[in-house]
Order: sequence, then C-alpha cells, then structure tokens
Amino acid sequence: MDKRLQIITNAALAAGSQILKYDPLTVKTEVKSSEGDLVTAADLGSEKVITRTIKAAYPDDKVISEETSTGHELLVPEKLPKLTGWVIDPLDGTNNFKKGMAYSGISIGYIESGEIVLAAVYDPYRKELYLSQKGKGTTRNGQLIHVADKSVFDAGTRVCTSNSYEGGTQANIERYTKLGHVWVDVLGSAVLIMTDVASGRLDIYHHNGLKPWDNAAAFLILEEAGAKLTDLRGNPTTWLTSEVVVGNDSLVDEFVRLINR
Ligand code: IPD
Ligand code: CA
Ligand code: CA
Repeated sequence: MDKRLQIITNAALAAGSQILKYDPLTVKTEVKSSEGDLVTAADLGSEKVITRTIKAAYPDDKVISEETSTGHELLVPEKLPKLTGWVIDPLDGTNNFKKGMAYSGISIGYIESGEIVLAAVYDPYRKELYLSQKGKGTTRNGQLIHVADKSVFDAGTRVCTSNSYEGGTQANIERYTKLGHVWVDVLGSAVLIMTDVASGRLDIYHHNGLKPWDNAAAFLILEEAGAKLTDLRGNPTTWLTSEVVVGNDSLVDEFVRLINR
C-alpha cells in the first residue's frame, strides 16, 4: 500500500479509538462561537493523535487542523495553488459527541498544490472507514461505493442539511418547502452526512456554513463516488467554499431548479 494511504488510514483509526475513550457526559468542554459550537478534550486528543501519526512519518509536512490555528490563513483562494499538506477536522459533529448522539467522525485530507488527492473519513461508531485517492474511486471498508441513482424528488427522497452556528438553518428549512413532499433530515455532522451521500444512504446534502476542514476529505470522497457539487445557484463549488449542494447529477440539478423558482 502507498505510504501516505497507510498513514492516513492509521491516523484515522487511531483518532477514532482516542475519541471513544472520553465520556461525553464528563469530558472537558468549552463553548466557541455560539452555545452549540463546542470544543472538547476529545477534539484535542484526536487532533494530537492524528498530528503525531503524520509527523512521525513526514516530519516536514504542513498539518492544518481545525483546533490549532496554525496555517488557517493559508486556506484562501489566493494561497491555494501553493498549498501542499494535510487538512484535518479531528472531530466533526462535536455537539453530537457531547450529547451522546453517536454520529460524529474524523476527517483527513491530503492536498497537493491546492488539489485534494487523498482522503479518509472514519466513523468510530459504525466502524466505517472511507478512503479515496484521486482517480481511483471511493471505498467504504474496502468496497467501492457510489451516490444514489434516484432521479426524482418524491416522499422517499432524503434531503439533508445540518446546523449553522450562525443560525442559517431555519432559513434553509423554509426553503425546502419548495421541494414538495420530501423526507428532510437535519443531522449534526457535515462530514458523515457527506459520506452518507457518497454511499447513497442520503440523496442530497445542502449547507451553507462549511469550513475547509469539513470539506477537504469529504469533497474528494464525493467526487470519486460520482457526486455533483454546486452552490445554491448551480455554480461549481470548491473545497474552500462554505455553501454546497451535493448528490447525483439529476437530483442536484432538480434541487437547484426547485429552490430558485
Ligand atoms: C460542524 C458540524 C455541523 C455543521 C457545521 C460544522 P464541528 O462541525 O459538521 O453538522 O452543520 O457547519 O461546522 O464543529 O462539529 O466540527
Ligand atoms: Ca466540522
Ligand atoms: Ca471539528
């Protein structure tokens, strides 16, 4: 196995075991930008394990992670073409973790000259490891996966959003009335929602509060699973953009059309 693939796998699995060591009820927790936006000792413990694993193999690599602010200033379009390194969300779905909701994951992307080339997402509860290498598809626990092949919006179409710390979710829920009778989920981990779209469990994800560390790994996982990614107007999006509509081609096109009519 390619060395970076081995390292990303080791880092994701080790971080998953680390997170499960903390008791959500008693874990040290601080509030960040608003009451729902938390950081816990589990986020920090996971970050440490991932960074240590990467640095042991590649001491000179740049590691940019959510909870350590070093390098965040590089995550802008102007600096992107020169960016090579790792972009990490050590615990996505911290609020879920803290509330014992068992829907949180670890996200690690490797970027070469601004482009995501390697990605791992691990769900320590369902014990599911998603891996992608540019051009080689996406696997979940070793099996190739693909987005859903549904083409119409009906009562069984699962449209999902997540919570915006700035409060944008309420406006989104109102928007979804334009979709007619569909199944709407509001789940608490952008990264796991995106991997669940990649494997066809969920049909569409729309959100407008994403950060580069939410997107880095998940976007490659989605692209390699055949997903289309746009903004709410149907324009192509990049992993630095906060807004995304993602699903298969027909559903994304139809979602954008219905929302904008
Ligand atoms: C958040 C979660 C949430 C999403 C937010 C993210 P965090 O990440 O993925 O579901 O709606 O936009 O920031 O803070 O748990 O890593
Ligand atoms: Ca996150
Ligand atoms: Ca996080």
